[in-house]
Amino acid sequence: MKRVAVLTSGGDAPGMNAAVRAVVRKGIYHGLTVLGIKRGFQGLINNEVGTMDLGSVADIVHRGGTTLFTARSPEFLTAEGQAKAVETLQENNIQGLIVIGGDGSFRGAQVLQNAGIHTVGVPASIDNDLPCTDFCIGFDTAVSTVIDAVNKLRDTATSHERTYLIEVMGRDTGHIALQAGLAGGAESIIVPEAPFDLTEVCNRLMRGVERGKLHSIILVAEGAGSALHLGDEIKRLVDMEVRVIILGHLQRGGTPTAFDRVLASRLGGKAVDFLLEGNSGTMAAYWKGEVQGVPYGNVFSNRKEFQWDDFKLATILAI
Ligand code: F6P
Repeated sequence: MKRVAVLTSGGDAPGMNAAVRAVVRKGIYHGLTVLGIKRGFQGLINNEVGTMDLGSVADIVHRGGTTLFTARSPEFLTAEGQAKAVETLQENNIQGLIVIGGDGSFRGAQVLQNAGIHTVGVPASIDNDLPCTDFCIGFDTAVSTVIDAVNKLRDTATSHERTYLIEVMGRDTGHIALQAGLAGGAESIIVPEAPFDLTEVCNRLMRGVERGKLHSIILVAEGAGSALHLGDEIKRLVDMEVRVIILGHLQRGGTPTAFDRVLASRLGGKAVDFLLEGNSGTMAAYWKGEVQGVPYGNVFSNRKEFQWDDFKLATILAI
């Protein structure tokens, strides 16, 4: 293996740059030519390929976003798009490809793997929704961003004796809501994994008021339903001032935490090792406390476990 490429795909996640840097620098260390593909699979289709040197990843380890840009590519879902992508890889004599992204990105990597290109995935998603890895790059930063917002909202909630319903990201999962809810002392955490009863959510609010609580925080994962709608329902059930905040894409930006930078450096570096060892069709994971390889098949056939113990604990602590 002499020429390898790297791309970032899907929703961006803080720490992607640190992963790209690790791939480029570890690859060059091992004598490889490393190419960067811009705009994910769409860039592969459009032949947006350039050689990367040590300097091209200088000064990015601490930056959010991705300097390679990212895209969600509907064209890559078509047979024509996939054929063009393979053509680009062959024209540029790319023997190995490292895909930094989430579940959808790995499915794209699998298509290329089936077409004879050696691929390795690096998990990056603020949702932390990939199974067989304890963490995806970007999750820790996103939770910290949410906590920062919760702390600020708690100040003003106390001053005005209000309830804040805060919607956080998590397309199909409630990992951000759960960890931020536990760390932020939320009264209720509403996630798609757990059935919820709004009457119980309201009863909990009322019990708080009776105990003299000045404010309440409820965290809702977007996958569990619209906070605007839930806020209206809560206002119908209880006589209190309820404000709704949707944190949205600010959770995807910002300086990656030290944890995310270290994770990204380890996984990006390991992805290069896997390509050199011929261990492709594999996700470079941080699982059960160790950096290790997990075949794509295992990633696709499992679902990330929800941390029920944390969920129960958060419920007990919020009483
Ligand atoms: O997958 C990460 C994520 O941020 C989800 O939490 C969210 O639902 C989705 O991406 C939003 O994607 P987009 O930026 O393409 O609207």
